[in-house]
Amino acid sequence: MDDLRDKYIQAIANASDEAGLEDLRVQAVGKKGEVSLKMRELGKMTNEERQVAGPALNALKNEINSALAAKKEALGDAALDERLRTEWLDVTLPSRNIRQGSIHPISQVTEEVSAIFADMGFAVAEGPQIESDWYNFDALNIPGHHPARAEMDTFYTHRAEGDNRPPHVLRTHTSPVQIRTMQAQGAPIRIIAPGRVYRADYDQTHTPMFHQVEGLAIDKDISMANLKWVLEEFVKAFFEVDDVELRFRASHFPFTEPSAEVDIRCSWEGGTLKVGEGDDWLEILGSGMVHPKVLEAGNIDPNEYQGFAFGVGIDRIAMLKYGIPDLRAFFDSDLRWLRHFGFAALDAPTLHGGLSR
Ligand code: DAH
Repeated sequence: MDDLRDKYIQAIANASDEAGLEDLRVQAVGKKGEVSLKMRELGKMTNEERQVAGPALNALKNEINSALAAKKEALGDAALDERLRTEWLDVTLPSRNIRQGSIHPISQVTEEVSAIFADMGFAVAEGPQIESDWYNFDALNIPGHHPARAEMDTFYTHRAEGDNRPPHVLRTHTSPVQIRTMQAQGAPIRIIAPGRVYRADYDQTHTPMFHQVEGLAIDKDISMANLKWVLEEFVKAFFEVDDVELRFRASHFPFTEPSAEVDIRCSWEGGTLKVGEGDDWLEILGSGMVHPKVLEAGNIDPNEYQGFAFGVGIDRIAMLKYGIPDLRAFFDSDLRWLRHFGFAALDAPTLHGGLSR
């Protein structure tokens, strides 16, 4: 028995792969293995012999089995180590084809706008895209019967039968983030809120999902003059021109009083847009002084605080700045288009480094 033990323990220790190990298992403790055959001989032994040989054979079988298991595990570890060694890869090396992906113009413009307003002390705020109709409408002074509600082509969510609460909506503008920010942080406030908005409208100049950036500044002595300066700085920085003339046109939004739509001086000579010169005007955003009812909805005392707000269509200003004629191209995922209009991934827009280069 000692010979058997020495032979197999030695052979197992020397096995170099799992197949060899399996052969040894069959030879030693398999059905017709040497140890198994010895166990069959127990029946022919006398009681006294069996009492000695039985436990000894069992112990030998156990010893061989655990040696097999231990070796199997060690071989597995070694195989894994070997694989890790041959498949080693330095993930910190730069990619060989770094220009394969590009930044979508919408993302680029969102980053540009954020960089410009960050420079003027505006933080970025966010809100949910599925909104309650209170945040999307009522809190913004758009009650149920107001025509603006009908004009918004709103997507409503479905309520279970018998559930009479008003349905949620896909937010039709980024303005509800005004209310959420007022409630969450109180006055003073200086934020922009870029994001996706939704309206049931689809043609050459409308897609059911598009992007806006909302602006909101609230403090004790904010006036329309501050609004005008901020927007002028924004337009100059965004279109990368030294000077630009803005025209404030009286308008109406339920959430601002007074309200103004803002046009910029431009020309369309030869079909290309030039901002800052010429005889044409281009409408680029809506704005105004925040309505007292809106401040109240945001738990801010309108006797103590006032502020301005504005809303810009990101898709629209992206088309204007980068000469993109059809809005729907934004959503086509055409690789050739993305390579042409896309931006380098590592070129984050900053005011000092250049917005678009
Ligand atoms: N929410 C408006 C829209 O989607 C845009 C807007 C206009 C936002 C005037 C404002 C504002 O904050 O003051 O058409």
